[in-house]
Amino acid sequence: VRDWNGVAQVVLRSPRGASARVSLHGGQVVSWRNDRGEELLFTSSKAIFKPPNAMRGGIQMCFPQFGYSGTLERHGFARNRIWALDDEHPLVNHNNDSGSKVSVDLILKPSEDDLKCWPHCFEFRLRVSLSKDGDLSFMSRIRNVNGKPFSFSFAYHTYLSVSDISEVRIEGLETLDYLDNLTHKERFTEQGDAITFESEVDRVYVSSPNVVAVLDHEKKHSFVIRKEGLPDVVVWNPWEKKSKTMVDFGDEEYKQMLCVDAAAVERAITLKPGEEWTGKLELSAVSSTNCSDQ
Ligand code: BG6
Repeated sequence: VRDWNGVAQVVLRSPRGASARVSLHGGQVVSWRNDRGEELLFTSSKAIFKPPNAMRGGIQMCFPQFGYSGTLERHGFARNRIWALDDEHPLVNHNNDSGSKVSVDLILKPSEDDLKCWPHCFEFRLRVSLSKDGDLSFMSRIRNVNGKPFSFSFAYHTYLSVSDISEVRIEGLETLDYLDNLTHKERFTEQGDAITFESEVDRVYVSSPNVVAVLDHEKKHSFVIRKEGLPDVVVWNPWEKKSKTMVDFGDEEYKQMLCVDAAAVERAITLKPGEEWTGKLELSAVSSTNCSDQ
């Protein structure tokens, strides 16, 4: 655990040299590097690493609200809070069938102030793991420790680093319905081709398959996103005009990033008292020679 700008961060390292850095501010993953030391996540050069707001980049936990779907600040408060190491087992090395993993366990419980704006007692346990091969995975467990049911939406808001957005395509979302945030959540159907980018995109692809690929032509790797318990995928790139309105984002940086978020947005998740929900995400950066387009 290292102290960074007043907030502790945990660095996970795989035996082959991959690494991930997890901040207690927001439970946010602020860096993920492969075994060649290449950074796989986007972080803005204008990012502000000071609480309370989440820094622009990495992987943010959006809970208990995604976007402005409710009365809370955008994407909920979890990404802005200081989380704690989970005392039960803060750091874990575990061996399983697919090899060894190193993990950190974090927990977030609501503060008095959080309960004033969202009056529901919860425990959010987050396990972030790095595998021997450098795959980054997340397991979120959210438990209702309240006397009444509550509902929430959720996303792993994931800023992938790409070489040139005009060369990137996403496979796995073609033919799906999506809600377009640029036209007040109007519903459209994707026309069957892989998704490419030539203007601002802000969409929630609903009821998507559990595996989605982001193919980056110039870079030597592409991303495979595997999810469980999260029916939707949010795709966002602000493009030129919107970039200029964001203080913590460079005017040209939209070319080097793409957000592809495993999420539960269209339908809220409801937990009865004592119930727990689990949502998993696994990210792999694969060499392009292994990709389907070769
Ligand atoms: C995306 C949303 O996930 O996050 C966009 O779909 C939003 O609508 C973007 O603009 C960034 O949000 P924020 O609050 O981090 O600036």
